[in-house]
Amino acid sequence: MQKELKEEKMRTNKTFIPPIKSQGIKSKLVKWIASNIEGVEFDRWVEPFMGTGVVAFNIRPKKALLCDTNPHLINFYNALKNKEITSAIVRNFLTIEGEKLLKSEGSYYYEVRQRFNEEGNPLDFLFLSRSCFNGMMRFNQKGGFNVPFCRKPNRFAPALITKITNQVENISQIIDFGDYEFKTQDFKETLKEVNPNDLIYADPPYIDRHTDYFNSWSEKDEYELKKSLFNSKAKFVLSTWLSNKYRTNDYIFSVWKDCYVATKEHFYHIGGKEENRNAIYEALLSNFKLENSITNNELSERIKNNKSRLTTEKKEKIIPIQPTLFEETVANTVYK
Ligand SMILES: C[S@@+](CC[C@H](N)C(=O)[O-])C[C@H]1O[C@@H](n2cnc3c(N)ncnc32)[C@H](O)[C@@H]1O
Repeated sequence: MQKELKEEKMRTNKTFIPPIKSQGIKSKLVKWIASNIEGVEFDRWVEPFMGTGVVAFNIRPKKALLCDTNPHLINFYNALKNKEITSAIVRNFLTIEGEKLLKSEGSYYYEVRQRFNEEGNPLDFLFLSRSCFNGMMRFNQKGGFNVPFCRKPNRFAPALITKITNQVENISQIIDFGDYEFKTQDFKETLKEVNPNDLIYADPPYIDRHTDYFNSWSEKDEYELKKSLFNSKAKFVLSTWLSNKYRTNDYIFSVWKDCYVATKEHFYHIGGKEENRNAIYEALLSNFKLENSITNNELSERIKNNKSRLTTEKKEKIIPIQPTLFEETVANTVYK
């Protein structure tokens, strides 16, 4: 079974996409992340912010601890692990529920949403994730899923059901092959469980960007994450954003000043329109040298001396210096 997966992956070099969608998903960056850690040896892969799990499921370590504060993600993957959810169950469920959606001309979506917010069934979570507006994952202040319908009553046409069923099958096989533990918990608890020979991949909510019930993230969190990561004594790699057209993430030069940095330009879309295609530089921070990383000082120098592609385009705004609560900032450079 695993052999088939491996051969398919080698033949097509494809990224396995999880069935659950989220706006923060790293599917387009997973190859870059994997190439940076190639050859690094570790006993266990630890993700304190697993989200959809796309990074772990494509790195496919033998052993992993995968955690998140969003219980719906963890329940879904535990249900796959325990075989409470299989690809056959998903096909059957989406066929029946998809027909009800079509018959109701879409209003049934809101019945499922209400049912999910009362009962938290992982199959309903999958249904909502694949029929909500833009595949977004967003929760209100009470923790209720609140994304509206995508407005396509025929959303669960046979081709989409087959696609989702295959995604469930692939991810189930990956989970079966590994020794994976899924836990609902805060990153501080997860990082207390880390051993020095583990490799941590941390992908926290991006600071200064959109937040919701499971995704609020403050400067205090950023400092606590840094403290917990360094205290763990394990190797870590952390994803964050470096810059976009308007701003630079100054925390890289303050909180994370002792880390190596690898960067990559990445495009993301909002709502699928070409004019909404925005470039962002992604960063991988680490406490050891990665394949393509440079020191934080080196990056700072390159930006100051205009030797980085990050500064070749005229910035439209002067970058504000971030106020910091806990430590003195070193981000005193004004990027123009
Ligand atoms: C950027 S997303 C991770 C995306 C993931 N790498 C992927 O590709 O799907 C951040 C995740 O952190 C989780 N999260 C937010 N605050 C947290 C906390 N304090 N402890 C643990 N997880 C948290 C959110 O629920 C969200 O799933």
